[in-house]
Amino acid sequence: MQNTTTTTQFNPEALMAERLGKVPFSGIRKVFDKVKELEATGKDVIHWQIGRPDFDTPAHIKEAAIESLRKGEVHYAPNLGTLALRKAIGNRTTIDTGVKVNGETQSIVMAGANEGIMVSMLAFINPGDEVIIANPNWHHYKSCVSLAGGVPVEVDTKESNGFVLDPRDVEAKITPKTKMLCITSPGNPTGAVQSAQSLKELADIAKRHNLLVMSDEIYSRIYYGKEPVAPSIYSVPGMEERTIIINGFSKTYSMDGWRLGWTVASEQLTRALLKVRQYTTVCVNTFIQAGAAHALNADQACVDEMVGQFAARREILLKGIKDIPGLTIAEPLGAFYLFPNISAFCKSSSELADYLLAEHGIATVAGSVFGSAGEGHIRIAYSCSTDECTRGVQRLAQALAAFKARGY
Ligand SMILES: Cc1ncc(COP(=O)(O)O)c(C=O)c1O
Repeated sequence: MQNTTTTTQFNPEALMAERLGKVPFSGIRKVFDKVKELEATGKDVIHWQIGRPDFDTPAHIKEAAIESLRKGEVHYAPNLGTLALRKAIGNRTTIDTGVKVNGETQSIVMAGANEGIMVSMLAFINPGDEVIIANPNWHHYKSCVSLAGGVPVEVDTKESNGFVLDPRDVEAKITPKTKMLCITSPGNPTGAVQSAQSLKELADIAKRHNLLVMSDEIYSRIYYGKEPVAPSIYSVPGMEERTIIINGFSKTYSMDGWRLGWTVASEQLTRALLKVRQYTTVCVNTFIQAGAAHALNADQACVDEMVGQFAARREILLKGIKDIPGLTIAEPLGAFYLFPNISAFCKSSSELADYLLAEHGIATVAGSVFGSAGEGHIRIAYSCSTDECTRGVQRLAQALAAFKARGY
């Protein structure tokens, strides 16, 4: 019999969804790979590239997950998350925002804050809808908006203003297509914290223009202000109905590998999020939710201790950076990031970051990875040991002096 099948050459590129062309591979992950390569050759590297705590997950949290596994809690959890964890999330959010939250109906346990962000975009963003995002910012928001078919609209923030979103700049970017305002406070890569007053002004704008607000509060308890937690836009009267809080366990409890986060929103918004999440991860691993519920319900001394260590490292680095002639820095009030201005040394942050890593074993992330307004800066994550911070800042001073001596 004659074979009538015609074969065309298989070209995977041609088959890829158009949306893939709108998102890059992560610039941070590239640094991780380079660090691994250098360490394999025996080079001592200062780990300022990693946006996650260097601590182990506290033992009592691990034990609660192990106990759950021993008890045979190995089957699907509810789509929303276990009731015990949702209740704990509700209580925690009530403590942090001062707004009474019913975790049972208003929260969803997500596979990391990142799932909460992606699910929020899929639930609320139509093709062409605009989402306002600070520039520089954690680059995932832009990609999640684009993957959902939306249009990220960036609002530049400035070092002279501590990298906070200026409500006037936000309002200037609003068009009839604007659907959502994204707030990250404390921020990544800058550590910038929006004041309660600026959040009130942003809330007024959101109400005036009928916007949803996605408030990423994953660093809210890694805060060096007077209160134990950074201010939240959810606390502004009238914002409960239009705000989706994104939060998680990765940073506060050093549980990034557990992949566990949450959303808090009104019952109506939560129903919409649930519809999407039923088709993403379905639910999060049952036994790790037992560990997470214990994290929120148990004594919070472990969080205070970690934040205390971050505060000590922050002091070492701020002092060391201010002592380096040519560097300037906006002193951030949250997270574990510093974002010094390196433009006196080099126009290109990626060129300087490459130099620091290749020639001095200092791993940072170029500010340009976080948006055009991040150019001229490098991100230092002080989620490494205090000793590494002390050695690192001395090494940075030498590296920059050597760079300058070359006459670039
Ligand atoms: C601002 C911000 N939100 C969310 C995340 C991701 O959190 P998760 O590990 O819970 O997905 C990060 C991680 O770096 C972050 O910086």
